[in-house]
Amino acid sequence: MRRSPQIFSTRIAQWQREHGRNTLPWQNTRDAYRIWLSEIMLQQTQVATVLGYYERFLATCPTVRDLAAASDDAVMTLWAGLGYYSRARNLHKAAKLVVEKHGGVFPNDVNALAELPGIGRSTAAAIAAFAYDTIAPILDGNVKRVLARHAGIEGFPGASAVEKKLWAEAEVRLPHAREDMVAYTQGLMDLGATVCTKASPTCMLCPVAADCKARIDGKTDEIPAPKPSKALPHKTQRYLLALHADTVLLVKRPPQGIWGGLWCLPELANDVPHGEMDAASKAKFAIERIENAAELASFDHSFTHFKLTLQPLKVDVSRVGKRLEEGGSMWIALGELERAALPKPIKTLLSELVKSQQL
Ligand code: ADE
Repeated sequence: MRRSPQIFSTRIAQWQREHGRNTLPWQNTRDAYRIWLSEIMLQQTQVATVLGYYERFLATCPTVRDLAAASDDAVMTLWAGLGYYSRARNLHKAAKLVVEKHGGVFPNDVNALAELPGIGRSTAAAIAAFAYDTIAPILDGNVKRVLARHAGIEGFPGASAVEKKLWAEAEVRLPHAREDMVAYTQGLMDLGATVCTKASPTCMLCPVAADCKARIDGKTDEIPAPKPSKALPHKTQRYLLALHADTVLLVKRPPQGIWGGLWCLPELANDVPHGEMDAASKAKFAIERIENAAELASFDHSFTHFKLTLQPLKVDVSRVGKRLEEGGSMWIALGELERAALPKPIKTLLSELVKSQQL
């Protein structure tokens, strides 16, 4: 099917008039001050929380001139509890600028609005659309999700290249008729908040499902892509897997640090050639000769703050004998590992090796 952007906006606007939210206190007004105040409050705060604050704020400061004339303290008191207090400071500054530079009237031009403190490109467009029917695209978090899915834009919407594509999609979908701007703009917000939700969107109820690329491709779970996780620091640690018959050597870890107080495979120096063992470790674990040493497959484990590759060196000491069994070490039967206080990745590593008969 060919995509028809014009029809997209008509469907959204119609849907909004029938199924959208139409009774919120900042709707059905053309007062740019009231609209602006609601958009700032709603930036990082849910509708339910905003309602009471909004009414109280307007009772004290019914016009932008009242807000401009209010003391810093009075403004902060009205905002107290809403969080993200730079919003309140910017609000106060912007009110003063509107009074001083614009004669107390909010500009209808998106660029002029976006010059005011605390008003980004999307908020400026929302205010201009709601107050003046200005044809300009919005792109807040919810709308990014709607458009990413409808246009099938992969990648994390916060990435600048992806965001650029989304602005372009927002632009081509704009209504041509100014009288649709209020319903269209609110419709995008409402669709994102109620139908095109992050988890399990209700595509059945969506007016633009027919040509939604993510839905057609079965990718509503994948689009929009989540924020990429930062690459974790990566550490490799070699471990000694000393075997005597069906027992393995464990050492108790010092009480502090990672895996404090747990039983663990002995750590080996890492800067030793493949299949070998450093002299200090040989002395420490009373292994003078190493026979049948074998590097086993490594095993990855992710901690919250780093990734660990465990690299086991299997050494059969059956012919040398069990040399070590003191306070800080023990030989344990492979069959009893389940019951020992071992760190999870060590236990998993050992049980997988037992299962695959490498031990
Ligand atoms: N979030 C941001 N703007 C909104 C609006 N106008 N209505 C509901 N939620 C919003």
